[in-house]
Amino acid sequence: RGKRAFIAGIADDNGYGWAIAKSLAAAGAEILVGTWVPALNIFETSLRRGKFDESRVLPDGSLMEIAKVYPLDAVYDTPEDVPEDVKANKRYAGSSKWTVKEVAESVKEDFGSIDILVHSLANGPEVSKPLLETSRYGYLAAISASSYSYVSLLQHFAPIMNPGGATISLTYIASERIIPGYGGGMSSAKAALESDTQVLAFEAGRKHGIRVNTISAGPLGSRAAKAIGFIDKMINYSIENAPVQKELSAEEVGNAAAFLASPLASAITGAVLYVDNGLNAMGVGV
Ligand code: NAI
Repeated sequence: RGKRAFIAGIADDNGYGWAIAKSLAAAGAEILVGTWVPALNIFETSLRRGKFDESRVLPDGSLMEIAKVYPLDAVYDTPEDVPEDVKANKRYAGSSKWTVKEVAESVKEDFGSIDILVHSLANGPEVSKPLLETSRYGYLAAISASSYSYVSLLQHFAPIMNPGGATISLTYIASERIIPGYGGGMSSAKAALESDTQVLAFEAGRKHGIRVNTISAGPLGSRAAKAIGFIDKMINYSIENAPVQKELSAEEVGNAAAFLASPLASAITGAVLYVDNGLNAMGVGV
């Protein structure tokens, strides 16, 4: 039987989530996607109208199929958590069952189980503010959307994951080194995500027989990254200063994720894998 993957955090064909889906599909996995509720309509319409067809092409010439797209908002765990104004919001009212618990239930109902869970989402409303100027609200919102969302996904999906399964998230070096401009508590959120990767590797390893890893990815001009405002600078800095002097492609991160999710990585868990052309190893720029 082929493997089945649920990838949370795809809303276009530019980000890491899309690239990971493609690498997993190329390796024979069935692809399920979780798309942020406010972005669902445009993503599904673009998909249906063939706007992504060029980027759906796999190495063997076939097109990546997405078995099902689920609306998801990973800052809400159950319907009881959803505030009235969000419930009434037009973009949310048009969809249903998009809290983490409900999505896991729907996937179970539709497909029974999964083998691979990918968390490729982050959000920090004050990301462009320095940490020193970040509000409590902004900081907690960054942690909620970017770190706890992973705990919640694992909490609800682990019970429907087959033993031997694997989960992967995406992190950034700003968790452990100073990256001016990555503000709003996003650096704190990535630090939490990396620490949680170890604790969750232990707990989910013992309880469910699954592996938990995170990829510390280099800079990519995704939609989320463009919103931060310094991504071009980061891409150029990396090309100038990394041991391997080239632009990082999303596909390289996708391939590393496919490796981590595969039996080739059966003894790797609780790890932060750098996929950044080696930039993390540099002490100074040259
Ligand atoms: P992206 O824009 O393709 O992906 C972020 C996704 O998160 C979007 O699809 C967005 O709709 C979704 N999202 C936001 N809030 C959500 C919520 N509450 N519930 C469900 N979905 C939500 O951008 P990118 O850059 O590919 O981001 C994917 C991951 O990669 C993130 O964790 C990011 O921090 C990480 N990363 C990105 C780097 C970069 O330079 N682009 C570098 C290192 C890590």
